[in-house]
Amino acid sequence: MSGRGRFVTFEGIDGAGKSSHVEWFAERLRERGRTVVVTREPGGTELAEAVRDWVLNRPMSMRVEALLVFAARQDHLDRVIRPALAAGTWVVCDRFTDSTVAYQGGGRGMPADDIALLERWVHPDLQPDRTYLFDLDPAEAARRRQAARAADRFEAQDEAFFGRVRGAYRARAAESPERFRRIDGARTIDSIRAELEEDLATL
Ligand code: TMP
Repeated sequence: MSGRGRFVTFEGIDGAGKSSHVEWFAERLRERGRTVVVTREPGGTELAEAVRDWVLNRPMSMRVEALLVFAARQDHLDRVIRPALAAGTWVVCDRFTDSTVAYQGGGRGMPADDIALLERWVHPDLQPDRTYLFDLDPAEAARRRQAARAADRFEAQDEAFFGRVRGAYRARAAESPERFRRIDGARTIDSIRAELEEDLATL
């Protein structure tokens, strides 16, 4: 395929179910003849994966958290995302800057202008072509998380935190309705996949 690849991101509160669809979605794209890279944030490079370990597990201030996720993002963009897109490869990424807006902004209370400044600094010219926002009631997401592994610094937050994260996601989605697709995380895996498959045909 010639031309720039497309950049697709998956977002949502912890427990909303997005991660179980990322690989599946990439496979559907490959079936359609696309070359696809699957990656995640924070992460996707050696440096960014090391940052992920710190951000998820070590105490730090809200500002340090935001600076570290953007430092990881810069490395990820430089080494993986931009080169792939330039080569015509599609990039499917589990979380991106919308997570910073939702978690550091909505969840932790960092001013939106500060996050916007970092966003303009790190990727003034790039946004995902499509973002699937998995939306789920925080109480249901908490029940799902309890069945999973030990909680990291974010997963250990209370329902009020995830209520704010969800609110910030929804506000961000309302600002860019052409980019976002809201996925109801309470639906069955099969019906979610049918919806994703229908939408990917439009990309
Ligand atoms: P994951 O568990 O979906 O891989 O995400 C890792 C955690 O990192 C998740 O709880 C959200 C958080 N996070 C932020 O707080 N800010 C960010 O910018 C990103 C990318 C993730």
